[in-house]
Amino acid sequence: MALRRFDLEAGGTDFSFAPETEDKIAFWLGKYPSEKKRSAVIPLLWLAQKDNAGWLSEPAMRAVADRLEMPYIRVYEVATFYTMFRLRPVGRHHIQLCGTTPCMLRGAHDLKEVCRDRIGEPFAITDDARLSWEEVECLGACVNAPMVQINDYYYEDLTPERFASVLDQLRNGVDVAPGTFVDRQRSAPLGGATSLLDAGLFDGSRLAQAHLPNLPEPVTDTAQPAAPARTTLIDVQPGPPPERVETASERVDDLRKIKGIGPKAVTQLQALGIYQFAQIAAWSPADVSRIEAALSGAGRVGREDWIAQARLLVQANKEA
Ligand code: FES
Repeated sequence: MALRRFDLEAGGTDFSFAPETEDKIAFWLGKYPSEKKRSAVIPLLWLAQKDNAGWLSEPAMRAVADRLEMPYIRVYEVATFYTMFRLRPVGRHHIQLCGTTPCMLRGAHDLKEVCRDRIGEPFAITDDARLSWEEVECLGACVNAPMVQINDYYYEDLTPERFASVLDQLRNGVDVAPGTFVDRQRSAPLGGATSLLDAGLFDGSRLAQAHLPNLPEPVTDTAQPAAPARTTLIDVQPGPPPERVETASERVDDLRKIKGIGPKAVTQLQALGIYQFAQIAAWSPADVSRIEAALSGAGRVGREDWIAQARLLVQANKEA
């Protein structure tokens, strides 16, 4: 970590919180017992930085220490440790440019050149006091690299041209909407989602299944005698394992196509009357519990995602 010293000259001798900041200070102090109020040092330093044109002067740090009844040196230690606190004056729009590996590989170096060209060296302030910049470590938006933070907001998926345009607009007093500069939703892939496209994975519909897997097919030919009722999972009560069905369905799928189901599990499932992907695809949470109890494999069905696999195989059978 770089040695960080604060600017003793630029901050003058006085600092006071803005009147409207008092409510925020009260909020943070209210989160801690009075004898532990120094726990609020970081949020109070942050508020002081806001009230001091984006940086922490030494009088501002003292004001925080006085509020929290802390030795000044303890507050200095916190302020000089965390790079979120700036220890020298900055421009109205202060740019934190991420130079860590993902952003560097995606062009952060070129963005730095834009800063040097438009603003100057790190922590230089433009003549109109509008812009300043510094290089920082990863800001946690690597998917949208390269990126910068300007005051409180992220500007992502930048190119040198886009970034130069942002700086020029800010310098001309034009606000620029933060966020990504390409066709993506937040951190989603360019052009839209490419995975998790099956809404059944996250819309709760799996939990809403009321259909039991082993019900007999409806009898359509009235001339045929009614088929004997099969023993189904609906008959199986919690505790003892499900009972064996009397007959297999006409179609027997190769259940080993479901990852996680081996020959032994196939035998066990068939003993429970499970022969088809469609049966597994239609399992309710209660069915899953019973099957897992019978297989002595708690959590196995969900962990190995048998139901989703079975649904895909049902679909593949239909399309075949
Ligand atoms: S490396 Fe730049 S945001 Fe993470």
